[in-house]
Amino acid sequence: MKDIYVLAIETSCDETSASIVMNGSKEIATVVLTQMDIHKLYGGVVPEIASRHHIENITLVLEELLQKANMKIDDIDLIAVTYGPGLIGSLLIGIQAAKTLALIYNKPLIPIHHIAGHIYANKLVGEFKFPLISLVISGGHTDIIYMENEYSFNKLGGTLDDAVGEAYDKVARVLGLEYPGGPMIDKLSQIGKINYKLPMPLDDDSYNFSFSGLKSAVINLVNNENSRGNKIVIEDLAASFQDVVVNTLTKKTMKAVKQYDVKQLLIAGGVSANSSIREEFKKLCSENNVELLIPNIQYCTDNATMIGCAAYYAYKKGIVSDYSLNPKSTDNLG
Ligand code: KG4
Ligand code: ZN
Repeated sequence: MKDIYVLAIETSCDETSASIVMNGSKEIATVVLTQMDIHKLYGGVVPEIASRHHIENITLVLEELLQKANMKIDDIDLIAVTYGPGLIGSLLIGIQAAKTLALIYNKPLIPIHHIAGHIYANKLVGEFKFPLISLVISGGHTDIIYMENEYSFNKLGGTLDDAVGEAYDKVARVLGLEYPGGPMIDKLSQIGKINYKLPMPLDDDSYNFSFSGLKSAVINLVNNENSRGNKIVIEDLAASFQDVVVNTLTKKTMKAVKQYDVKQLLIAGGVSANSSIREEFKKLCSENNVELLIPNIQYCTDNATMIGCAAYYAYKKGIVSDYSLNPKSTDNLG
């Protein structure tokens, strides 16, 4: 069978990324240009600034990609792009670039949901065995997804308010840490002790999550301690917060794994870079004889490689777009 080469573009937030992936699982080359240092100055991503930088970067990123892969656009079979969810202005730049390439070079245009991309980053780790559960944990999502077969998504539950990455970033800001706060809290929690008592959010039988109460509990605790003139031990508070997050995520996810009797658990999204989350799921999956796939750290946060992996399977399912493709700021997976 002929090899299929996908050129994928991802610009949903503050990374301008392009990648070439062969047959949905072999990365040929990837370029990721992050704007993190620019947005750090504002304590979070500024949408208008992000889209301006995508415009400046996209052509350079595509040129660098083809050079790095030592390939020409004629060698490419499919053009894939993230159409949502994400920042409208940012998505628009990637979509416009993808449409232009698809039109000029007469290639099929494959629209990819950002979260499908995160899940399919796991193709770089191993083959999927169905049925499976995927826990998607990022700055915008906290979802438990059931997959009966390839490229079919059934959401069992998700966050009712803040996403887990959003809670990390907001708690970090209260603690005076830089954006993005997730990696900083993760680092501090490795040296901290679980000394602060925080509530376990939405501790019920559903597959839903709620992180805004936990975030508020941390903010109240900091305010109360400050008003009493007590010093906060930041690393202990980080460890206490992370402990509750890990317990909540593992409890509900492992319940779904057992209830649906799945063969595999996939973890996906930026927060899957978290050291305690990785460790705890490894332990629990080995105890419960369930195979675990987690992307290598560099493929946990936003990148176009994951979009290239997903596109191969989307194409096989007949998912192709015409040139009316528009960005979507919100969109349910499946
Ligand atoms: O998937 P992603 O790159 O972008 C979205 O689609 O949202 O995820 C970014 C999120 C941020 O909230 C960031 O703080 C979080 O992932 N994150 C982490 C870690 N690394 C990144 N959260 C906890 N621990 C980490 N090590
Ligand atoms: Zn993401």
